[in-house]
Amino acid sequence: MRFILGLLLMIWLPLSVNGQEANQKMAETTKEKSSYKIGIIIGSTRPNKIGGQVAEWVSQQVQKTPNLQFTLVDLEKWNLPLFNEPGMPLNGPQTYTHAHTKKWSQEIASYDGYIFVTPQYNCGYPASLKNAIDYLYVEWKEKPAIIVSYGFQNGGEKAATQLKQVLDCFNMKLTSTMPAIGLAPQMLNEKKKLKNTAEDFKPYQEMLLKSIQEFMDIFLSNEK
Ligand SMILES: Cc1cc2nc3c(=O)[nH]c(=O)nc-3n(C[C@H](O)[C@H](O)[C@H](O)COP(=O)(O)O)c2cc1C
Repeated sequence: MRFILGLLLMIWLPLSVNGQEANQKMAETTKEKSSYKIGIIIGSTRPNKIGGQVAEWVSQQVQKTPNLQFTLVDLEKWNLPLFNEPGMPLNGPQTYTHAHTKKWSQEIASYDGYIFVTPQYNCGYPASLKNAIDYLYVEWKEKPAIIVSYGFQNGGEKAATQLKQVLDCFNMKLTSTMPAIGLAPQMLNEKKKLKNTAEDFKPYQEMLLKSIQEFMDIFLSNEK
């Protein structure tokens, strides 16, 4: 018996040391990698919007992704006026004249990538989001992004398709997976708010995590 125990210990000890080394190596590699700031942009500014709940759900699903830090950016709180800069944002932030533009520019420039959370309004994405996008140019340019849409018709995929066209204009690096969350009347309570995103959005979790994996791959290939 003592002999068998001794034999098992002899086999287990080196394996365990190797395991610890591997874990330590993995931790070091993760530490070495850059960390990225991601803005989750809530595209709807409707006072009774569900966009905030959709974005919260997205944030909860992705927040454990290593090396990514997420911040919600609520366009309703930004309360940007209809685009009112005299110049073209393409010419750079030095041409911005309004305090709200400069502040919005600093906010967006502070992120390395974005998750756009957009509803579908009349077969497109909301004017509030287009307005917020049009204020800036270099701040968006060539950055990685995911589009998450929601709507009663095909998860708002028409909004996502239109938004993609616009983001392509900035050469943004979009994930090929664009999660489209299908809404149904029974998901809403009497105040027209979502009742149970944890349960009702479960079918979209896998798609979202796939898009996050692609997002990470874009950051990693940019590092090379
Ligand atoms: C102006 C407007 C237009 C809409 N158009 C569509 C539409 O084309 N397709 C769709 O599936 N839902 C449409 N809806 C329903 C929205 O998907 C739904 O109201 C959703 O809650 C809107 O997102 P929000 O609450 O974050 O603003 C529309 C809603 C509004 C307010």
